[in-house]
Amino acid sequence: PALNPKTENSYDFVVVANRLPVDRITNPDGTQGFQRSPGGLVTALEPVMASSEGAWVGWHGGIGEELESFDKDEIHLVPVPLDEDDLSLYYEGFSNSTLWPLYHDVIVPPEYHRTWWDRYKKINQRFADAVLKIAAPNATVWVHDYQLQLVPQMLRLARPDLKIGFFLHIPFPAASLFSQLPWRTQILQGLAGADLVGFQRETDASNFLRCLRRFTGYSTKGDVATPPADSDMQNLCRANAHPISIDTKTIAKLSRDPQIIARAAQIRHELGNPKTIMLGVDRLDYTKGIRHRLKAYGELLTDQTLRAGDVCLIQVASPSRENVESYMELRDQVELMVGQITGQHDTLSHTTLRYLHQSYPLREMIAMYLAADVLLVTALRDGMNLVAKEFVAAHQDGRGVLVLSEYTGAADQLPQAVLVNPHDIDGMKAKIVEAVQMNESEQERRMKRMNRQLAVNDVSKWSNDFLAALAEINAASSVHGSV
Ligand code: G6P
Repeated sequence: PALNPKTENSYDFVVVANRLPVDRITNPDGTQGFQRSPGGLVTALEPVMASSEGAWVGWHGGIGEELESFDKDEIHLVPVPLDEDDLSLYYEGFSNSTLWPLYHDVIVPPEYHRTWWDRYKKINQRFADAVLKIAAPNATVWVHDYQLQLVPQMLRLARPDLKIGFFLHIPFPAASLFSQLPWRTQILQGLAGADLVGFQRETDASNFLRCLRRFTGYSTKGDVATPPADSDMQNLCRANAHPISIDTKTIAKLSRDPQIIARAAQIRHELGNPKTIMLGVDRLDYTKGIRHRLKAYGELLTDQTLRAGDVCLIQVASPSRENVESYMELRDQVELMVGQITGQHDTLSHTTLRYLHQSYPLREMIAMYLAADVLLVTALRDGMNLVAKEFVAAHQDGRGVLVLSEYTGAADQLPQAVLVNPHDIDGMKAKIVEAVQMNESEQERRMKRMNRQLAVNDVSKWSNDFLAALAEINAASSVHGSV
């Protein structure tokens, strides 16, 4: 695809995320192309993109490949190249072996390496430079997630005219954990370059503000942080919760599609029409509590609280970050447990656990949600967990029970779920049994309430609210401007 010269330096709205919202495909004629990826973020931002000369800066998924900018479905895409070393030091290293475990409450120990940090700075600058090349005067730039926390400050120092928003999709840890990070000051200052920093939960926002006070010279009042007088950034930084959501209408509509309904019936039939189908859908990640879930499920079968012939758990575990050591170990552990459960409880004609190390298109996921009686979300820590919300939106029929970890952002919005503490295996077993036995009218009462929540709070409301809050911040909202 060719660079469109007229678009140079002329984007009023720029989104920056580690990944572009496209997947590589091979066309029928053998040529390579891109197809929009199904994520909620791009769905939410598409209207804003189309109406405001929008561009998206991100990695295209290739290794060591330099690609020109190109247009796809009214969005201008600006690929940022990453080579093998960048991937290993910035992506697998600092992003996914330092920040990811630290921010998810050290479920596995974070590693601190100076070479990783150096590359993280360098790649954040590469993303920032790509934005600087295309952002129009006074443009709004929305930076996403933990891979790019230094970008707001880099943009602020180079271009004070920009309106800068940042959204963290994962949790922000308590000060006692965050304090481990050797580069804690730099990360906090990086984020504070934004006019508005959005988090999934109130606790994430207050953790961030507390860290700013403790580890930098910022002072805070309510949700606004003020830099110290000697800072080279003089913008105020507002930090508060903007919980992300899903494209509720699209999922609800798909759940009424006769083909998908028929596919759900077929899934049940092919599993031998067990009395109860339970479902888990996760990236294969140690934050998701898959081992805790399998432990509880295996024990329920062994102690015959659940009859093996009556139940089947479908566990979708989509491949993720496969070059990172802790993910390889997790895969081995999960696959060992799967073998133990199926070996002990399956018969020639019935499986108690169908483990699928694959990803599926949205339509097939909705069919699985519809086929399931109970969804198990047992994350040890999760910024939001959109699977929980999708399951609810797919159950406009009022059937089905959501078992949901208290340690997810989604638990704040879906209190009618059966809430569990995944660390408490006995407690979780009791809650799973409660879910399996819940009568239909109680299922319906809870599903309907949760669906009322999601009907209003969908992903476009999330992005509109965030961008409206960002727009309201006065251009002169600097320490000097506000006195
Ligand atoms: C989480 C993160 C995202 C990330 C996604 C997939 O949801 O918040 O930033 O894109 O996981 O992980 P990956 O490493 O494959 O991009």
